[in-house]
Amino acid sequence: MRPIHVLNGPNLNLLGTREPGIYGSLTLADIAARLTERAGARGTITFRQSNHEGDLVTWIQEAGAAGAGVILNAGAYTHTSIALRDAISGAKAEVIEVHLSNVHAREPFRHRSTIAPVARGVIAGFGPLSYELALEALLHGDGGHAPA
Ligand code: DQA
Repeated sequence: MRPIHVLNGPNLNLLGTREPGIYGSLTLADIAARLTERAGARGTITFRQSNHEGDLVTWIQEAGAAGAGVILNAGAYTHTSIALRDAISGAKAEVIEVHLSNVHAREPFRHRSTIAPVARGVIAGFGPLSYELALEALLHGDGGHAPA
């Protein structure tokens, strides 16, 4: 059973009521339930959310130390945070960056990710399914392309 840590950043606690035209009507708890069901006996899901960058840094370090795969929706920190990028590199965590929305079809400031260069991969634009696709990628475990 692979440990999988699902880490969510700022404002994702508001899912369900936050801009539903962009982010849909499911809550973060709904997404957690879907992932736990989908993982079944294949993985153990630890699901967390924080509005604070430092919490995410600490949790990435913890995931790296535990050898856990990470599904990371860093919210707006995706576009600004060198600390998160350094945490991923430093912890040698296998991270998949996810987004509910297609950030590349939105405002230009959302096109840049500080995390993507050190992530194993990026999945964006599929709503809650983005998380499920990332879970499948981590559980597939073929040791495919890793960042340099
Ligand atoms: C998001 C996209 C980010 O640009 C935004 O700041 C979010 C959510 C997404 O899941 O689509 O908070 O990460």
